[in-house]
Amino acid sequence: MKLRRIVYTSKACKDFNKRDLLDLLHDSRAYNTLDNISGVLVHKDGYFLQIIEGELNKMTELLERLVKDSRHTDFKILNDSIVKNRLFSNWSMGCADFNDPSISMIPGILHGFENPNLSNELINQLPEIADYLHTHLTHQQVNGTQV
Ligand SMILES: Cc1cc2nc3c(=O)[nH]c(=O)nc-3n(C[C@H](O)[C@H](O)[C@H](O)COP(=O)(O)O)c2cc1C
Repeated sequence: MKLRRIVYTSKACKDFNKRDLLDLLHDSRAYNTLDNISGVLVHKDGYFLQIIEGELNKMTELLERLVKDSRHTDFKILNDSIVKNRLFSNWSMGCADFNDPSISMIPGILHGFENPNLSNELINQLPEIADYLHTHLTHQQVNGTQV
């Protein structure tokens, strides 16, 4: 099946505290579970980087909602591709918050609660994924340079 994967960055319009971010994750995970969208959200110093992937029509709908969302601005798509496989198939929305690492330890697991090994594996992988994203994408973007 054809899937669309989008990587974008945006800038928070207000200070996102832990509660704001948890609210956002709570809602996003509920919608994404319904729409079979997976991905990861990175937050650092008022900037977001999000990877979202899913079926084409669901991704179009999510994009429309995201660009209208007044909680963030400077919405920039870094990469938009049609892919065959998901990178984050088990996450309705994983999160890496560089300002509050405790939030990064709450994975939005989509499937696999029945398998504790899978959950542990995902939790253990979060820092590596966060590190990878930090090195390869967020650093340049947070400093204002186009990737
Ligand atoms: C940084 C950021 C990431 C978001 N990620 C998602 C997401 O992955 N899935 C989702 O359904 N909504 C996400 N949202 C929320 C949507 O913009 C929107 O508020 C939500 O889907 C509900 O849509 P509605 O307000 O039109 O009812 C995100 C919002 C922000 C600011």
